[in-house]
Amino acid sequence: MSAKLKTNSPRRKGPKAGNAKPGPAVPPRWRTEVERVLIAEEQIARRIKSLAREIERDFRGREMVVVSLLNGTVMFLADLIRHLNLPLRLDFMGVSSYGLGMEAGELVFTKELRLDVRGRDVLLVDDILDTGKTMSRVLPKVQALKPRRIKICVMLDKPSRRTEDITADYVGFEIPDLFVVGYGLDFAERYRNLPFVGVLHPHVYQQACQRVCQK
Ligand code: IMP
Ligand code: MG
Repeated sequence: MSAKLKTNSPRRKGPKAGNAKPGPAVPPRWRTEVERVLIAEEQIARRIKSLAREIERDFRGREMVVVSLLNGTVMFLADLIRHLNLPLRLDFMGVSSYGLGMEAGELVFTKELRLDVRGRDVLLVDDILDTGKTMSRVLPKVQALKPRRIKICVMLDKPSRRTEDITADYVGFEIPDLFVVGYGLDFAERYRNLPFVGVLHPHVYQQACQRVCQK
């Protein structure tokens, strides 16, 4: 499946992040829980500006509807749209995967779109494209509303994890197969407020697992 309805632009890969080189130091407040910073705050800010320029070029001349998936997109969305110098309307879809921690569970829609997107140019925004299961459920739902075109924008892409035939049109960063938190992304609903993208210490996952297993 592809989001490329009436669009000819090739997929633009995001720059790779999180390989080899040691990243910046973890801020002292987070050192007991966060093992390393994968993408620093300043790096995210720079990338979002250039992503916004790419999107502006493709959507110029028409009013767009930004459809953002809750809850993981909060920070990315807020930063991205403040750099989009285009007329736009904003709406949210609630999608929740009732899994524990790192395991994706059953996907449930918790909020439907309210804006009419028929005949409109839609930018579908999510935090991370992992297996692609979420997008492969969301995309047909939005397509059924008959927009003129849909483009997908994600902050992070883990292509090595993909099981569904989904590609994003705009990618902030391509990352390896790592579970990451921060900048909106959670582990068991925590760590969304980190201003950077990081990897947790293994003991955090183990403790959370023990709490769940003891229940
Ligand atoms: P997918 O359906 O497997 O593509 O996964 C998409 C959803 O899983 C994202 O919207 C996130 O909520 C969650 N997810 C996937 N990978 C990560 C991760 O590394 N950290 C936090 N959440 C993740
Ligand atoms: Mg999510």
